[in-house]
Amino acid sequence: MNAFTDFFGRFHPLLVHLPIGFLLMALVLQWLCNKKKYAAIEPAVPVAFLLGMISAILSCISGWSLATGGEYEEATLELHRWMGIGVAVVSVAAYYFSRQTKLVVKSILAVVLFLLILLAGHLGGTLTHGEGFLTKGLSGITKDSASSARKTIVNVQEAQVFNDIIQPVLLDKCGTCHSAKKQKGGLRLDGQEWILKGGKEGEVITLGNAEASELYKRILLDPLEEKHMPPKGKPQLTEQEIALLHWWISSNAGFAKKVKEVEQPASLKPALLAMQSAAVTMQKPAIPDEPVEPAAPTILDTLRNAGIVVLPVATNSNYLLANFVSISEISEKTVGLLQLISKQLVWLKLGYTSLTDKSWQLIGQCNNLTRLQVDHTNLTDASVRYLTSLPKLQYLNLVGTKITAQGVQQLKGMAKLESMYLGQTMVKGNDITVLKKLFPKVQIDSGNYRVENLATDTQLVKAPPAKK
Ligand code: HEC
Repeated sequence: MNAFTDFFGRFHPLLVHLPIGFLLMALVLQWLCNKKKYAAIEPAVPVAFLLGMISAILSCISGWSLATGGEYEEATLELHRWMGIGVAVVSVAAYYFSRQTKLVVKSILAVVLFLLILLAGHLGGTLTHGEGFLTKGLSGITKDSASSARKTIVNVQEAQVFNDIIQPVLLDKCGTCHSAKKQKGGLRLDGQEWILKGGKEGEVITLGNAEASELYKRILLDPLEEKHMPPKGKPQLTEQEIALLHWWISSNAGFAKKVKEVEQPASLKPALLAMQSAAVTMQKPAIPDEPVEPAAPTILDTLRNAGIVVLPVATNSNYLLANFVSISEISEKTVGLLQLISKQLVWLKLGYTSLTDKSWQLIGQCNNLTRLQVDHTNLTDASVRYLTSLPKLQYLNLVGTKITAQGVQQLKGMAKLESMYLGQTMVKGNDITVLKKLFPKVQIDSGNYRVENLATDTQLVKAPPAKK
């Protein structure tokens, strides 16, 4: 592709709006001039069609140049191309017949042209903005970003280096431009074969040598440089993600090894541990499989009037989450309202509040809770025992409470418990070791892994001096 066609191609996204405008205008004018009142505008109709036709043809040519760049998803591109050419061809016919009197032919052409514009436009939108762009705003709160779809990593040493750690990062930060939907630079990063195949300019990974790998070099470039990845203005990699990519390439971990099978420099520990806990924090509330009837709208109104935020845990689910964020003084009466939705309530968030003993008791009666967040509350060893009666609880966040190791031990009988957060509590270093033995199946987070950044971490992300 030479520089001129490349340049011309870039006008396509701008040009395409002209035929859409001119041709739709022409259709409206043509329809109007059948009415007596507007008969005078008849001579304008062929002019509008002529302008539409010319701009449609120019759009086709510029589109063709852009498409040869090979950065778009093939099947959609093909369909878009033929629809676009269709618009141009039919617009020539429409222009020709607009100066004649055959009303039937004109009407048929008008309908066909309208449909073609609609389809070509929609497909063009899909190519530039990605599949489902049109309906994205409608699909509600369960729309997962790539990051929240990450697999939960309970023990990072057992995780797969590529599948569980590297691929999610690549999908999250590079996927919009380098995957099945788009292949900027001819590169896909959504699978082993594609990554090894490389991009337009050849291989992007030199196994065993990060510094020599195009993929890594581009990440380290000065963010203002055009070749820096991800490009300026797009979500950037974190220091930890960069450290993980460096480790993945330089250790030659490839695509099938587990973390424990690969040598881990001390400087990488924080990044690896962060993967583990980040994944647990992002874990979705467990939603029971069995269906439940919806809570009555009047009941929901009662709770909402009391200031409790009540939402479905997912679209199309009758299960609910309740959040007390917007209430400063929580009375026993307000907590008591939760009984009205005890069947549906699976997730409760009560951070930064102070509750009476009776209120803690009432919370212990929300039998279907799977996830309970009572961080920074006045929960104590005495009140925590009320929570032991929650039969389905999987996730318990006790961060910032006055709870001690003795208090936590009372939770031992809770069969479903999977993760517990104990940072900033009275549970201290040695207690954690004891508790981990007492709760072998529970992922205990003591909040202590956030070790200070090592000097090597910051060195890692310094950009090499810009090339002149
Ligand atoms: C917003 C879109 C976008 C995102 C996000 C993005 N890239 Fe790119 N990438 C491009 C474009 C455009 C090119 C081609 C132009 C160029 O070579 O600079 C490219 C080219 C590349 C190339 C060179 C391919 C070749 O052989 O020419 C590599 C390697 C690359 N990107 C890696 C990445 C990585 C790794 C990420 C994620 C950390 C990423 N990109 C994220 C747009 C993107």
